[in-house]
Amino acid sequence: MNSSSDHTPMNRPHPRRLGHLVLNVRDIQASVKFYTEIVGLEVSDWIGDQMVFLRSSTDHHDLALAQLRSDDPRAIEPVVPGRPGLEHFSYEVASLEEIETLGRFLQENNVEIVRGIGKHGPGENVFLVFKDPDGNYVEFYCEMLQIPKGSTYEARVWPDDIDGFDRWHYSRFLVPPPDWGPSIDPDKGK
Ligand SMILES: [Fe+2]
Repeated sequence: MNSSSDHTPMNRPHPRRLGHLVLNVRDIQASVKFYTEIVGLEVSDWIGDQMVFLRSSTDHHDLALAQLRSDDPRAIEPVVPGRPGLEHFSYEVASLEEIETLGRFLQENNVEIVRGIGKHGPGENVFLVFKDPDGNYVEFYCEMLQIPKGSTYEARVWPDDIDGFDRWHYSRFLVPPPDWGPSIDPDKGK
């Protein structure tokens, strides 16, 4: 992508990092159980029994859950994969070893795994994606490439292939590769 600053206003925002996410949920008790017991978050506060704030670090919340009205017809259906909007959100963990342990933990707890364990090309991050009770995709990741302020890092365009999606070529996947994902080119490397 063209990163020319010709059209960038000098007073553009300077966000420090992505902060928090709020999800509408069908069953807040089921969801808070999932996000504490499976994802490992801590409860920071509730508003009545309709909204709960959760944290993974020192911010009061990086995730909040809001109970949908049960009489709202939009609240019945789970999240449909592939719809416009959020694809997944992600929590950092310490290491590949921890992600491998968490993969077994998710399977033991009958959590549906969506994709992974893999290692992306861009960002070099290790990923394991799974579903929450509403069907949202949640991810554990580690080893994200760091780009310090003022570094000489330059964005580039990667080919849309297996090496960009999973450097490990699905060899550590706990589930079949996604049908939309790049397939392994059998001629590559010959
Ligand atoms: Fe991700």
